[in-house]
Order: sequence, then C-alpha cells, then structure tokens
Amino acid sequence: GKSFGVIADNTWKMEISLGERITFSSEGPAFRVIVIEKDSPQEVMKELGKLTGTIELPPIWSLGFHQCRYSYYPDERVKSLADTMRLKNIPCDVIWMDIDYMQDFKIFTFDSIHFPDPKETNDYLHKNDFKSVWMIDPGIKAEKGYFVYDSGEKINAWVQTRNDSVFLGKVWPGDCVFPDFTQSKVSKWWGGLYQNFMANGVDGVWNDMNEPAVFETEDWTMPDSNKHFGGENIKNDIHLRYHNVYGMMMVESSRKGIIKSNPEKRPFVLTRSNFLGGHRYAATWTGDNNSSMKHLKQSIPMSLNLSLSGQPFNGPDIGGFAGNATPELYAHWIALGAFYPFSRAHSTKGSINQEPWSFGEEVETVSREALQRRYRLLPYLYTLFWESANTGMPVMRPVFFNNPAEKYLRTEQENFLLGSDLLIVPKWSENGQIPSGNWRNVSINGEKSQNHKYHPDVLIRPGAIVPLCNPILSTNSFSLDTITLLVSLDTNLYAKGILYSDLGEGYGYQDGEFSLIEFYAETQNGITSLNTKTIDGNSIPNDTKINIKLILDSEVINLSGVIEESIVIKN
Ligand code: GLC
Repeated sequence: GKSFGVIADNTWKMEISLGERITFSSEGPAFRVIVIEKDSPQEVMKELGKLTGTIELPPIWSLGFHQCRYSYYPDERVKSLADTMRLKNIPCDVIWMDIDYMQDFKIFTFDSIHFPDPKETNDYLHKNDFKSVWMIDPGIKAEKGYFVYDSGEKINAWVQTRNDSVFLGKVWPGDCVFPDFTQSKVSKWWGGLYQNFMANGVDGVWNDMNEPAVFETEDWTMPDSNKHFGGENIKNDIHLRYHNVYGMMMVESSRKGIIKSNPEKRPFVLTRSNFLGGHRYAATWTGDNNSSMKHLKQSIPMSLNLSLSGQPFNGPDIGGFAGNATPELYAHWIALGAFYPFSRAHSTKGSINQEPWSFGEEVETVSREALQRRYRLLPYLYTLFWESANTGMPVMRPVFFNNPAEKYLRTEQENFLLGSDLLIVPKWSENGQIPSGNWRNVSINGEKSQNHKYHPDVLIRPGAIVPLCNPILSTNSFSLDTITLLVSLDTNLYAKGILYSDLGEGYGYQDGEFSLIEFYAETQNGITSLNTKTIDGNSIPNDTKINIKLILDSEVINLSGVIEESIVIKN
C-alpha cells in the first residue's frame, strides 16, 4: 500500500520504458531524477504539487460542457448552434471557434466575410449565457505587411535554423515562422498580442499545434538542430532541448498576456502540448482521437495518466475527432464525457454533424440527461478543482486511490473515481473492479442508470456526502440557494462531505470571498442528524434550502429543511 513517484527532470528528447525496471534514456546530458516516496498515492500527488505548483482555480464556466468542431463558421452558424442548445435545453457553457474564423489562417485576425464582427458574435453568445473560446496556433504566416509577422520580425522573434537563418515551416497558412518562446522579450511580445484580441469579448483561448507541428516533414515538427536564443534563465540551445517544452512556454506566455488584458477575470487556455508544471498555465486535451469504441475506452487510462502526471484539467474529444460517430458510439461517449474533468465535444472537418441532437431523439435525450448530471454535480466538481488548486490532487483518480492495499484495483482502467467519493462505472465496462465496502448506486438527476443502455452507473462511497445544485443550463445560473446532499452512511452510521464555493469568476476568493463548509451526518441513540460547520471563509446563508437524499441500500429517503437548525434525517 505504499507509493512512489519518479520525475525525470529533463526537457531533452527522452525515451522512457516502464517494466520491471523504469528506464530513462536521454539524448541530452545527465539530468536530475527525483524519487518521491510516500505512504499513499495521495501523498505522492501532494508532494508533486509542492514541487511543481498547482493549478489556479479555473473560472466555473470552464467546468461546464463545451461544444466544438472544426469549424463552426460563419458566425451565423455559431449563433444558430447556440440557439439550438437553448431551444433543446442541452446544458452547455462554451462554443469554440476553430481555425476557419481567421483571415487566411492568420492568427489574431478575423475572416472579413465569415466573422466580420467578432465582438457582436461574442456579445450574442454572452447574452445567451455562453462563453467563447478562439484558437491561436504558434505558426505565423510569413507575410510582409501582416502585423503579427512584422512586429515579431522587428524583434527577431523567430526560431532559427542551424545556419542562423529564420526557420520556415508549413502549417495551415502556408510558410510560417515560429516564435522563440525561450526569449523573454518574445514571450512578452506574444502576450501583448492578446490585448486587442481579447477586447473582442473573447473568453478563452485554444493553443493548438504547439508541439510545434510542422507539415511536410518526416516527423511532423521542426528539425532538432534548429536554434533557440534563450535569455536570462534559459540557455541558448538547440530545438532538441526545447521541443518538449515549446508548448508549455507558449501557453505560459499566452496566459500572462491574457491576464494582462483581462486582469479581473480568471483566464482559460487549452493546449495540445504540455509538460510537467504546465498545468499552471493551461488545461490539456488528448489531441486527435478517432470516433471509435477503442478510443473511447482508451480515453480513461489516458486521462488518468495525465491526471497522475500533474495535469488535473484534461479530457479527450467527446464523440471522437476523426471519422464519424455512430449514434451508439456518441451516446456512450457523451454519457461518459459528462464525468471528464474537461468535457468538450469536438470533431474534424468533413465529418458528419456531432452535436447532441445529430443522432436522433434517443441520443438527444441521453445527451441532455448526461449533461444534466454533470451540471447538478457542479458544487462537487468545483470543490474538487479547489482541492486540486490547494493540494495538487487530481480530479479524476484511479480506483486504487480508494485503497492502495487492495491489489486487484491497481490495474483498473475502465472504472474511475471522480474525487474520492464517486465511482464511475461505464456501461461497457467488462471487468471493472469496485473497491470493497458498500458503494451505493445513486441517481444524480432522477435518472435510472442501473438498467440504462448508456449512462454509467455512479456509485457513492460509504461515508460520503456529495453536494448537488439545482438543474441549470449554464453556469451563469449557478446558485447554492438550494443544495441537495447525497448522504451515504458508513457502517458507523456516519458520513461527511465538504463544499467549497465562491463567485466562480474573478479573484475575490483571494480576499476571503468564499465559503468552505463541512457537512456531517451523525447517529446517536438511533437518530441521525445533519449538521454543518464553517471551516473557512463565509458561512452559507441561513436560509439556504437543503434537500437531503439519504441513500440506503434499497431505498432513498428524501428530507428537506434550512440550514439554521440541524436536520433529523432518520429515526
Ligand atoms: C488539429 C487539432 C484539432 C483542430 C485542427 C484544426 O488537428 O488537434 O483539434 O480541430 O487542428 O485546427
């Protein structure tokens, strides 16, 4: 039941083999290896968090559902997508703009025909309780007269070839130059580009292709021998040394620029390439997957591994990126996707429509129910992100975290834990292992998952109290006026839960504008009562309405009350 973690503190190209022995072979010089030995995997994660830093609290809207495709355009299509979401009562917070919004794929520009007024498009989305995320890639069209190219050229911002000329590589816009983020002046210049861009009402930024990807090359990237200039703390060296951190350096620069542009707001950045420590700058998605059952299943070990590698805010493209999802596949994927830390549907150009309503009525209903489950769980999910921000604990966790001494749990990668209190069991799980103890099946929003074809079973840990909010369609309406508590007593007839809440946006929480409370269900003389205790920050208002669902083995007892007096939940 003891645990260890190993960090190879090295950015050079490296091979890792995991078997009887763990072997790192690097193409760079000798490097530092750090071994963390602790009594539990949780302690290992917390130690990792101390070494690398933890995520900052994301804006609550980024925990909602995200709808993306390559690409929603023109702007009218974006608006009608938003309208349909609302018309069909599909919970959703964010609509994404992929590369086609740009003029000739030039970053920081907008297509004059398809997106003539991005501010108006964003206003429309905001009015309908959506946020927008827009893509920015690192490849910059090498074109005189284009302001991004010209301004970078002025400060010699580009990665160079081994012969000291500017490196040119092909990406979406054709011949591109690539910012050398190892130079602090370049990072600053890059950050500054966001000022006017964000002023269009852009809420979040998607940094893609940042491995960096380069077309028409043998290994899809720039030559190892390319040169980076470095700066005060970063050595002047070849690309082989910086390739693995190129994406992280890009998102660090982006994030800083975005914060400068919108100092009152919490930034949101998504990246395809990241590195240990890069979780402080961006959420990471798993890149271009396929619409296949195989890739759906693989998404769980991928997300778990990212989570264990210090990237708590992650997830795959729901529905699958390449190829066409079938109704069956999409239903399975959206049903599961409600439980990824980052929940975004995305699909490639030329694929069939992959929106929640694209596969007929049955799948539309499954999608709505799945996302309703996610939205009702927001108080719990947000508390998990707060925990991650404070301790480095992942949001999505392998089942063996429940009890590392139970060896049979260690290889489990179909079922997974959301936090410590909920176990997600996909319908297609064949050999899924469940920890010992009385984990009880719970309904999150009245749905009956047990005999359902698609909805994963959600099991609650004995001894846990999980807070839910009322059903909502956007986090704009998130409120804790009414809280529902799922209470699952342990063998001592005791249960405990925690709830963190704040405004979900901005930095007021750093000045005490938050509440952190614990709930206890205790049993004395055959009477179980529920009490709350303020741990830190403000207490929740006295008139908060509390509904209690006491999950027993064969029934659920419903009770309600307000917080000022303890609520007797069982006699
Ligand atoms: C890359 C991304 C994908 C995106 C596409 C077009 O393939 O991984 O998500 O849709 O580029 O920008």
